[in-house]
Amino acid sequence: MILITGATGTIGSEVLRLLVERGERVRAVSRSPERLPPGLDVVRADFDDSGTLRLAMPGVKALFLLTAPAKPTPDHDLAVLDAAARTGVGKVVKLSAIGTGETIGDRTVGAWHLVAERAVRDSGLAWTVLRPSGFASNLLAFARPIAAGAPVPNLTGDARQGVVDPRDVAAVAVEALTASVHDGRTYALTGPEPLSVPDQAAILASALGRPVGTVDVPVDAARADMVGRGLDASAVDAMLTGVEWARAGHNAVVTGDVEEVLGRPATSFATWARDHLAAFR
Ligand SMILES: NC(=O)c1ccc[n+]([C@@H]2O[C@H](COP(=O)([O-])OP(=O)(O)OC[C@H]3O[C@@H](n4cnc5c(N)ncnc54)[C@H](OP(=O)(O)O)[C@@H]3O)[C@@H](O)[C@H]2O)c1
Repeated sequence: MILITGATGTIGSEVLRLLVERGERVRAVSRSPERLPPGLDVVRADFDDSGTLRLAMPGVKALFLLTAPAKPTPDHDLAVLDAAARTGVGKVVKLSAIGTGETIGDRTVGAWHLVAERAVRDSGLAWTVLRPSGFASNLLAFARPIAAGAPVPNLTGDARQGVVDPRDVAAVAVEALTASVHDGRTYALTGPEPLSVPDQAAILASALGRPVGTVDVPVDAARADMVGRGLDASAVDAMLTGVEWARAGHNAVVTGDVEEVLGRPATSFATWARDHLAAFR
């Protein structure tokens, strides 16, 4: 039995789909089980409620550990690990992020992931840590305005990042969950080429057959906007620390880790864009 946390999210939903397709026994965790397809083994659990996490664990051999950045604390990962350790779970695959532990000024990128990664490695379970670069799917947050002709907000200037297709991240997670050869490995998961936001807009424009612009958003303006929209200030700071690190050019990194695990090249942004064109029309 493989337990999938974050099963309604971008990566978890694809991990779930791929494991079901492979015929693996799966159990999904959500605070809202009605959002998951019928017929699945689903447990209603909340990272803030350790009792519900323990209810999800019986019979579980491997665990996909995804915690959400809405609350940038390692407490959620630690609560899941604690529940897992009590019930004989053998393996954990943690979704972290590229740049975790790097610094910009006096701030640490992915500070909450860093603490959680250490706990995963010290857990006594078999483990794999996945550190993806920025997801291609982040653009979907602006799909409606882009469809209406608005420019893509650009927080990272002309800095490039190894933008990764979330389907590749999920496919790597599935391999790590099902094969022991990935135990003890930390993979930095990127796409095949470093791309800036204007590069991504140009690729999307070419697929759509019409111009797609970008508009530079200074980090301070992004912070004011997000806090103004009611987002947790510590979550905004944690997110923008990573943005500033990327904006300074530190994430212009491409690795071969997706290809090493999947035995085929990482998916290009052009392919991701072609497969999601409907969202931008
Ligand atoms: N976006 C990027 O570019 C990027 C890049 C690298 C790494 N990452 C990492 O990827 C992770 C996010 O993955 P994602 O984008 O797939 O997630 P997502 O789409 O934002 O979904 C978040 C998931 O977390 C679950 N969740 C949130 N709060 C919960 C709680 N209190 N208890 C139980 N479940 C909870 C949600 O489930 P329910 O609402 O159904 O309960 C949902 O399935 C983060 O750790 C982030 O640091 C993101």
